[in-house]
Amino acid sequence: MQVSSRLGQVPASPIRKLVPLAQVAKAQGKQVYHLNIGDPDIQTPYVILDRLRAYEQNPVGYAHSQGEAGLLEALVGYYRGLGYDFIDKSMVQVTQGGSEALMMALFAVAEAGDEILVPEPFFTGYASIAPLFDITLVPIPLSIDTGFHLPDQQVIEDLITERTKAILYCSPNNPTGTVFDRQEIELLVRLARERNLFLIADEVYREFVFDGREQLSLLDYMRDLPDRIVVLDSLSKRYSVPGFRLGMMVSMNQELMAGVLRMAMGRLSAATVDQVAASALNRVGKEEIWAVRDIYQKRRDVVFDALSGVDGVTIQRPEGAFYAVAGLPHEAEAFCAWLLTDFHDNNETVMLAPMPGFYATPGKGTHEVRIAYVLEVPKLQRAMEILAKAISAFT
Ligand SMILES: Cc1ncc(COP(=O)(O)O)c(C=O)c1O
Repeated sequence: MQVSSRLGQVPASPIRKLVPLAQVAKAQGKQVYHLNIGDPDIQTPYVILDRLRAYEQNPVGYAHSQGEAGLLEALVGYYRGLGYDFIDKSMVQVTQGGSEALMMALFAVAEAGDEILVPEPFFTGYASIAPLFDITLVPIPLSIDTGFHLPDQQVIEDLITERTKAILYCSPNNPTGTVFDRQEIELLVRLARERNLFLIADEVYREFVFDGREQLSLLDYMRDLPDRIVVLDSLSKRYSVPGFRLGMMVSMNQELMAGVLRMAMGRLSAATVDQVAASALNRVGKEEIWAVRDIYQKRRDVVFDALSGVDGVTIQRPEGAFYAVAGLPHEAEAFCAWLLTDFHDNNETVMLAPMPGFYATPGKGTHEVRIAYVLEVPKLQRAMEILAKAISAFT
């Protein structure tokens, strides 16, 4: 049987594709430090787990398609707590992770054959979802040398065609750890206004900004461009609940939100029990989330300090999220595989994500790796020591 040609366009995740090699390494008795996947090791807040344990409804029914009432209320409370008093329930859709919010947003703003601009490198989920809807992602090129910040307005403007429907960006960023400053966000807002585009911000790492940076959000501009702005969000990283598969989309565009709700009806509901448990999120204080941010900042220092001293490595100090991109003197795909198949230091090795899969442009990122610092400091120090040895040992 002939499967669809578009099925072939969905790429494998560069984050997960080395897993079989890691399994072999482990079967050989090697310890593998996982720096390849953004699966936080931080504990889920006990107030959320307590509510999960207290769940008593029998049978476990569907929730509303827009979201379970308690969770919607908690989410409105969360946004208002950030100062966005204008947010009400009609502007929030609960989704199955930020991933589904992304899927719904892309489908909602673009026709088949349309283009969406996205700063590159970008989160691999974008490249998996765009082909489902026959949407082309057009890269806005960024460089490790400028800390993956935006190029001049003209570079972006030159990429806009009559098929461009939106700009999608992520800040704080996965995979680069870059946080766009106010000027950069305002540049994108201006382009959306002047060139009649949707502007979609992926803010799943919103709180994780380092070194006293201001926590910025596209929500600051939502009332200026109420029809064009869509914010994607997730509980996965903020509350360390990636297994809940809960996220949300926020927009003031009522037509878009009504359409998104119809899409949500098509998949009935997000997981009821997880939503009930997550409705305790407003009992997690801002200080608790900032404490997690501080943990990531310390780890960022460990990674940056260790790698910036290694010969041949290029690294900029990440500004947020929990990722760093390092430029290497080696070909990254081969190096990452070799780390698992051939290298060990005292029977220990590290697993990284090679960067080419985070680029749509062929030939880019060939000498870059992404490091997700989701290990506690002593393990991370050891992992960096192993990595430094591996970089000098690889031929
Ligand atoms: C930038 C970004 N957006 C969206 C997601 C999707 O996360 P989830 O579906 O777990 O909410 C991730 C997950 O790693 C991410 O890094």
